[in-house]
Amino acid sequence: MKIAFVGKGGSGKTTLSALFIRHLAATGRPVIAVDADINQHLGPALGLTDHQAAGLPSLGAHLPEIKEYLRGGNPLISSADAMIKTTPPGPGSRLLRIVEENPVYAACARPVALDEGSVRLMVTGAFTEEDLGVACYHSKVGAVELLLNHLQDGQDEYVVTDMTAGSDSFASGLFTRFDLTFLVAEPTRKGVSVYRQYKEYARDFGVTLRVVGNKVQNADDLAYLRREVGEDLLTSFGHSDWVRRLEQGSEPPLSSLEPENRAVLELLHQEADAAHQLRDPRRYTEQAIQFHLRNAESWGNAKTGLDLATQVDPSFVLHQQRAEQETRDQAGAHA
Ligand SMILES: Nc1ncnc2c1ncn2[C@@H]1O[C@H](COP(=O)(O)OP(=O)(O)OP(=O)(O)O)[C@@H](O)[C@H]1O
Ligand SMILES: [Mg+2]
Repeated sequence: MKIAFVGKGGSGKTTLSALFIRHLAATGRPVIAVDADINQHLGPALGLTDHQAAGLPSLGAHLPEIKEYLRGGNPLISSADAMIKTTPPGPGSRLLRIVEENPVYAACARPVALDEGSVRLMVTGAFTEEDLGVACYHSKVGAVELLLNHLQDGQDEYVVTDMTAGSDSFASGLFTRFDLTFLVAEPTRKGVSVYRQYKEYARDFGVTLRVVGNKVQNADDLAYLRREVGEDLLTSFGHSDWVRRLEQGSEPPLSSLEPENRAVLELLHQEADAAHQLRDPRRYTEQAIQFHLRNAESWGNAKTGLDLATQVDPSFVLHQQRAEQETRDQAGAHA
């Protein structure tokens, strides 16, 4: 399952992503945590020191190797240089699994031990001076788009992505690559306005969006969110002294999180699992191709000097996790 947390700056995306990741890990689920925000805070939110977080390898810095690996023996992609962030997988491409060892994880993912369980963390890398101008932040989140487009994930295993604030996400196709998007909204006009904007894009691209209120302090706050967000409001997380203690530098165990807030995390988990039913691999692949053709036309062809539309194999569909396929095949063989 691919899950994103989006919302206004400061709404609590990182806090809720980190808590959700910890909750999943505590229940024994395999999780890859991805920090795709310009402000890279997910590592520290998962308990890394600033020094440890600064030492994490960045996806942005490994883009050529990532492309080389994913391209595999796909005859439609002549070289890693010919691969742009939206180049879709095809026959011969290497696909990633959430639970496996591969050169991409070896180069770019690092294990993070939590008080209950552990996860793998990947980060896009911080926005630096060099990123200003053309080679902008979007080339870094491009690595995440490539990875998700080459991922064969199944139910009960999760990629959880902390996304960049507000509508910056729409600059690429990344926002369409998730089974479920949690929009974190504070009960304020600004919090809700980001929701409205996201909702429009979500409608146009078939994105499954659920709003999670945050820093909801009382019944009036909740009523405000209900009124503004309607049935898209899934649940809301209260102001948390536990989160405040974490911010103050102590390391409270997940088990001491306020029970009502822990119940919210469990609800998010259930909602994520329910989103599995809505999966449509064919539509997912078609949308990847649509974004690829659009990017090819607008800048990719000019940049590479190639006709990138030829990278598309329309018959290729990114199917469910292989394990499930194998199970079905075995059942078929025994039948
Ligand atoms: N439920 C909560 N209770 C108490 N404090 C909270 C809660 N949610 C978030 N905070 C605090 O609010 C601040 C912003 O939260 P966070 O960093 O998670 O937001 P963000 O959306 O990731 O911000 P950015 O856009 O800067 O990445 C942090 O100091 C965090 O500790
Ligand atoms: Mg953040």
